Amino acid sequence: MVEVIKIEGGKRLNGKVRIGGAKNATVALIPAAILADNSDVNIYGVPDISDVESLSQLLSELNVSVTSPTPEHFQINTSNMKNIDLDSDAVTKLRASYYFMGALLGKYKYVRMIMPGGCYLGPRPFDLHLKGFEALGATVEYAQGYYTIKAEKLEGAKIYLDFASVGATINIMLAAVLAEGRTIIENAAKEPEIIDVANFLNKMGANIRGAGTNMVTIDGVEKLDGKPHEIIPDRIEAGTYIIMAAAMADDVTIENIIPQHVEALTSKLIEMGVNLEIGIDSIRIQKSASLKAVDITTQTYPGFATDLQQPMTSLLTQAEGPSNVKETIYAERFKHCAELQRMGANIGVHPAQATITGPTPLFGSKVVATDLRCGASLVVAGLMADGVTEIHEVYHIDRGYDDIDNKLTALGAKFWREEV
Ligand code: EPU
Repeated sequence: MVEVIKIEGGKRLNGKVRIGGAKNATVALIPAAILADNSDVNIYGVPDISDVESLSQLLSELNVSVTSPTPEHFQINTSNMKNIDLDSDAVTKLRASYYFMGALLGKYKYVRMIMPGGCYLGPRPFDLHLKGFEALGATVEYAQGYYTIKAEKLEGAKIYLDFASVGATINIMLAAVLAEGRTIIENAAKEPEIIDVANFLNKMGANIRGAGTNMVTIDGVEKLDGKPHEIIPDRIEAGTYIIMAAAMADDVTIENIIPQHVEALTSKLIEMGVNLEIGIDSIRIQKSASLKAVDITTQTYPGFATDLQQPMTSLLTQAEGPSNVKETIYAERFKHCAELQRMGANIGVHPAQATITGPTPLFGSKVVATDLRCGASLVVAGLMADGVTEIHEVYHIDRGYDDIDNKLTALGAKFWREEV
């Protein structure tokens, strides 16, 4: 028996949906919390997603106490922490387990763990993280499936990233906050999640400046103390609901959102003719007459987010004319296109690019969520399709979408799970 999601398409969406804390900030904040010395770290706005469960399991393996006074509040305390090898399944369930590399290296000057996992989106090296650790004075060895990264001491360095990598920027920050002297990350990534992690570390006593620009400066400090932190809203979850609403809303308001974080998306939707009203911390979408085709190129922030490319592709099947979608971050992030074709979409896939010609009516079909955002694109398609869509491998969706069943049902979607 396997669990599937079923969606009966064609239901108009109405009402309000509240966005949870950002997955891609949370998965760094939890490992970052171990840098605190013996005092409680309180993190608020934790999303209910399986990536958080995997990271909590890793904390437990490190003998870090994690309590959850309410579902969205995590209290983390490192008083009894032990730096053991990380080699359980939890490491391979997500990519972000590699943030324990930076955090443990920073705290203990030693970390040993197996290869992290995560969605397959084509090759996803993390050489830039490792080069960063080496620049700080660490040695990196990969043998028998384990990375061993260690240093006598970590010393600040100037590190230029060949690509403005989100993961490398955060991981180097985690390793450098307790290093001696100044670290400068040049060509740093500028994603909002990086600012959130830097703000959290600074509250705990770190000295990080420039997060959110392409140059981040970290002056090492001796210790960090636990402090409370509220996670920023998830711009990718928000973007996904905005896209769903652009497809199916009569009148939907997305709440707990930072509109500036989704500006690349909302500008494209306005160009398409979506009826959208941007508030201070909310966005309202009302039924649009018809949608125009647009071209999209994914880029690092503030460009169009690669994580929204897949759900957006589903919406573009309903736009008049051909839309071109180019990927500059993950050349192979197009597995969703084959699934959408099963539902009737007219999509040509070329290297690092897809052409979607619409509008085409979609019909319910059996499809597979090959990765997290492919899952999101199939949910968008399922809401629009005629008949029932059956989505397999739903664990991918549960890695990143907080309470999706209740949120969609409350908006009027017919969305349920079954064992088949
Ligand atoms: N890259 C390298 N070497 C490295 C690191 C990255 O070549 O050492 C390349 C990657 O192969 C990729 C590009 O640089 O082509 C971007 O990678 P980046 O490091 O910026 O991505 P990431 O940190 O692995 C995060 C998100 C992804 C999101 C990307 C891009 C987390 C946990 N993951 O990944 O989110 O797509 O940034 O914005 O923060 C998702 O949420 O579905 C997801 C995949």
